[in-house]
Amino acid sequence: MAGRIVLFGATGFTGELTARALAARGERPVLAARNEARARALADELGGLEVAVADVARPQSVAALVEAGDVLVSTVGPFARWGDAAVRAAIGAGAHYLDSTGETPFIRAVFERYGPEAERAGCGLVTAFGYDWVPGNLAGALALREAGEAAVRVEIGYFITGAGAGGMSGGTRASAAGVMLEPAFAWRGGRLVTERPGARLRSFEVRPGKEWSGISLGTSEHYALPRLAPGLRDVDVYLGWFGPFSRGVQAFAAASSVLVRLPGAKSGIEAVVGRLVKGSSGGPDADARARAGSVVVAEALDAGGATRARVRLEGVNGYDFTAGMLAWGAAAAARGDLQGTGALGPVDGFGLDALEAGAAEAGIARADG
Ligand SMILES: NC(=O)c1ccc[n+]([C@@H]2O[C@H](COP(=O)([O-])OP(=O)(O)OC[C@H]3O[C@@H](n4cnc5c(N)ncnc54)[C@H](OP(=O)(O)O)[C@@H]3O)[C@@H](O)[C@H]2O)c1
Repeated sequence: MAGRIVLFGATGFTGELTARALAARGERPVLAARNEARARALADELGGLEVAVADVARPQSVAALVEAGDVLVSTVGPFARWGDAAVRAAIGAGAHYLDSTGETPFIRAVFERYGPEAERAGCGLVTAFGYDWVPGNLAGALALREAGEAAVRVEIGYFITGAGAGGMSGGTRASAAGVMLEPAFAWRGGRLVTERPGARLRSFEVRPGKEWSGISLGTSEHYALPRLAPGLRDVDVYLGWFGPFSRGVQAFAAASSVLVRLPGAKSGIEAVVGRLVKGSSGGPDADARARAGSVVVAEALDAGGATRARVRLEGVNGYDFTAGMLAWGAAAAARGDLQGTGALGPVDGFGLDALEAGAAEAGIARADG
């Protein structure tokens, strides 16, 4: 039966949260994972959901998960390592696709390589549809709408509040470690340019009188926001998770980008990182997550550098937001509310007002001031 939601990675930390968020919305997703017993236990707990077994080491098993009209949600990461099978399966079947990645190279591959294939297949791909990078797309689009045609530059900052900055899942650590070794990008002078992660550092007023800094990174905003505002010349996104350590992280990113260019160094560093940083090791529990929060700031500037609009979003931690957002997006796509085909940004995919309402349901909403 087409029109199903299939959640691949349901036994992982983010996958399980997403399964629970879907069930809480009254959806009945198929839970897909490589370990049938673990998927079955969760499916039974959530009211007798259907289970499917798939392993990216056997791409045919992933391809068999979906058919035309289905919605495939993937939380199988790191995406640089494990992500291709799911996006290929969706394109092969003509199914819509959403994922939880935040990884720069994977986002680039979805927009540049897989997007045109999905367009031909008649399905939509919404990559990075979690905390990475929905709130910045939303805040940036709201700021652009308010600034009007005068806006030529958007700058976005992501910040973690509360006591949760250290509470990362094993999957997040594994994905983030890989991203720092790969080239990033920015939207500069009206086109996408490659640059290293952390090439820029800037601070934002996160709370009245409180400036926090972040380092630049390649994200989906660089592809998606220029589609909404063709006059946009520059898009920069800054990750401010590191607080006062931003300058140190920037220096580490700069050193890594030099090191990985030495012959053999990249595979050596990847091997060390792979041993030190394990995925599938769980993540912060409900209490730890509740102690963390998010602030996302977007500024739209004119050609003279004056700020024409400023939008500030505030809300829950990244994990609960990601699960809630994926559940909202999958339900909307299954209802036929995903607009367009090919690689879609959060705003062109779902519409600005609908996305703002969906993000608020998932726990992050406008809180200017
Ligand atoms: N956008 C955001 O803000 C955000 C938020 C949260 C997570 N993420 C990203 O989402 C991804 C998952 O994070 P997580 O914390 O949930 O990590 P995780 O617990 O390690 O989950 C990884 C999932 O991938 C599955 N997997 C690994 N190898 C597989 C294979 N060969 N075949 C099938 N499945 C396989 C694992 O299966 P098993 O359960 O069998 O081990 C597990 O379900 C990461 O890339 C992370 O960076 C992003």
